[in-house]
Amino acid sequence: MADPWWREAAVYQIYPRSFQDSDGDGVGDLRGITDRLDHLAWLGVDALWLSPIYPSPLADLGYDVADYTNVDPRLGTLDDFDELVAAAHERGLRVLLDFVPCHSSIEHPWFREHPDWYIWSPVDGPANNWPASFGGPAWSLDVESGRWYLHSFYPEQPDLNWRNPELVAAMHDALRFWRRRGVDGFRLDAIDRLFKDERLRDEPSATDFPLPLHGEAAQLGRLYHTHQPETIDALAALRGPADGAVLVGEVFQPTAGIVRYLDVLDLVFGFELLFAPWQVTRLRAAIEPAERLRRIAWVISNHDFDRLATRVGDENVRAAALLLLALPGAAFVYQGDELGLPNGPAATPPWDRAGRDGMRNPMQWDGGHGAGFTTGEPWLPLGPTPERNVAAERDDPDSLLRLYRRLLELRRGLGNAFRFLDTAPDVLAFERGDHLVVVNTSARPQLAPPAGEVVLETHAGALAAGEIAPHSGAIARSPG
Ligand code: GLC
Repeated sequence: MADPWWREAAVYQIYPRSFQDSDGDGVGDLRGITDRLDHLAWLGVDALWLSPIYPSPLADLGYDVADYTNVDPRLGTLDDFDELVAAAHERGLRVLLDFVPCHSSIEHPWFREHPDWYIWSPVDGPANNWPASFGGPAWSLDVESGRWYLHSFYPEQPDLNWRNPELVAAMHDALRFWRRRGVDGFRLDAIDRLFKDERLRDEPSATDFPLPLHGEAAQLGRLYHTHQPETIDALAALRGPADGAVLVGEVFQPTAGIVRYLDVLDLVFGFELLFAPWQVTRLRAAIEPAERLRRIAWVISNHDFDRLATRVGDENVRAAALLLLALPGAAFVYQGDELGLPNGPAATPPWDRAGRDGMRNPMQWDGGHGAGFTTGEPWLPLGPTPERNVAAERDDPDSLLRLYRRLLELRRGLGNAFRFLDTAPDVLAFERGDHLVVVNTSARPQLAPPAGEVVLETHAGALAAGEIAPHSGAIARSPG
């Protein structure tokens, strides 16, 4: 059987409020995205993933959903959505939606109409010591009912009760609704939180967890408030309503913890790579076990964490792009990384209480007013590097944008076989079929493994005379 379309896909993450405003209100919208699809087609990605577009009071900027089967009026209408899907499909681009199953907005009518679709404390107070992901306890008082409810994230995001079959049916209906509108896949938000221990047992104190955690969450173990076995069956049951759409899991677990999710999902993000410092031993330790699982969605930045340029440094963004797009399997590129955008300023007061405004500043299309993002006042300030914009980088053959484009084209022809090579300590090198990929993470030239003809370099002359230049990468043919 032919490989499914997503196996080697490059997926572009759009943060809808910050991609393109079409009506001058300073907020990106669906028509704006449709108007910019040619950028994605030119760039050469296979699909786009839209962070949530549903009606939302914006306590978590759309990840607090107030209606699972509609579009936020500030972003457009269902008709605009249908047009977007049709225009994407015309260009050969697939469309993935963000599906947020673990919690709704507290303003979703369900919270009042169907209280038993949520999780309540059996006592008059927090039921246990569980922490919320962004700090503080995971229980809050609902003043109206006088009862305490569970929220794994902000208090405005009460956790849904996936042990209630009516809730499950409603969520399945939502998947069918979008599938009928032509959606090709879903990114499943925070699904290690889908089920919690039914007995609501206290967490013991922390054990080692290799991914970053906020506040109290870092002090406590993760036996009961996350990552429960029932989750796997519930995810398997999404297959019917998803009806062949690709399912990509956001599971905030190290690689060992995501194996069982891959039994029921198509792809799962590999977060160890996203958090690996730009050092060869750490990068290799993150990639090797994940690659063996075959169906990792590689990702090195998104709307929740420092922007790539801020995390690895401007000097390494070209090599990081090469690494991401030369790994075997699906790769996710966050909007603006193709321009090298660093973290930007937050709004005053910030929109996001967890400090993520600076990873979500508007896309920069040109050097004019509002960076071509809006004719009005942008909802979030523009970032600190206005010269990094699509118009300028499209015209510059040596730009990062053009490097992304060349990588996206070349990655289709890289062979499947994958093997790391043992090399100099600051050199990451692997074979992909009959190609060799070499990255120098250091500020000094390093000895490179033997290579044939160079087919792509991050900098002119990066791989020459047996050496790989500082902060550089190259893809070459294997030595003859
Ligand atoms: C995911 C999203 C993040 C959101 C959280 C709660 O981690 O990526 O933005 O805040 O889930 O929905």
